[in-house]
Amino acid sequence: MKTEKPWAEFFDGHAPYYDENSFTKNTIAEVQFLTEALGLSPGAAVLDVGCGSGRHAIELARRGYRVTGLDLSAGMLEQARAKARAAGVQVTWRHEDATTFVVGEPFEAVICLCEGAFGLLGQGEDAIGQPLAILQRVAAALQPAGKCLFTVLNAFAMTRRHSDEEVAQNIFDPLSLTERSDCLPSGVASDSPLRERGFVPTELILLFQMAGLQVLNIWGGTAGNWGRRRIDLDEMEIMVLARQGADPAGQMPLEDLTGLGDL
Ligand SMILES: C[S@@+](CC[C@H](N)C(=O)[O-])C[C@H]1O[C@@H](n2cnc3c(N)ncnc32)[C@H](O)[C@@H]1O
Repeated sequence: MKTEKPWAEFFDGHAPYYDENSFTKNTIAEVQFLTEALGLSPGAAVLDVGCGSGRHAIELARRGYRVTGLDLSAGMLEQARAKARAAGVQVTWRHEDATTFVVGEPFEAVICLCEGAFGLLGQGEDAIGQPLAILQRVAAALQPAGKCLFTVLNAFAMTRRHSDEEVAQNIFDPLSLTERSDCLPSGVASDSPLRERGFVPTELILLFQMAGLQVLNIWGGTAGNWGRRRIDLDEMEIMVLARQGADPAGQMPLEDLTGLGDL
């Protein structure tokens, strides 16, 4: 039988080793950056979508925020729970799908980092519907004018590293900006292909708008190199800062989104 959520299977297998990845080693600096970018008030309620092993959620809880971590992978949540216990902090962990999660108390801020669900496509999920569903849940979970911060895969880099042969082999699909692989961390082939999706800034702005979120800034967002700076074409990730609700003045001009003046 096909696995409907191959990413849950993937991350269940990867969970014991996830924190060994080099891209996880900047958590404290990342949390410092995001608390400032989101302008979190003391003790704010924060939701971490696709929280994984809980590295940001736990560091935020250490700093006194009221944190909820949500993830599809039971294995990743098991790691997160053990780490929170060892750190002596309280986090509410929820085993749910980011595309359908139930909204309860409003959050002042939502984070969705390092492709926490966004663009990690399940069986039968399409490249527009999946991220849009997540953004709609995030918009519903936020308090009015609450902010969210995402880091998502950069489609420019994805496109530049694939050849026409790989397009012909269906390893990279330029139509959906989706990469495909069949291998689980164990090296075993998955029943269902793993598909991950890159994004370009203009479609991110439109997707966020469709969900009722206004994009405030778009910066380069590769783990280990977060900053209020322009996107490098070959970097892994793009960062999006947005707020709930439309600005009556409309979306700000594209050239203002780096916050760095004219392009
Ligand atoms: C690359 S990890 C990122 C984890 C964490 N945000 C970080 O920065 O280390 C992606 C996480 O997204 C989770 N995930 C994938 N699809 C999901 C979905 N549909 N709903 C919720 N979580 C999902 C995975 O289980 C995994 O823990």
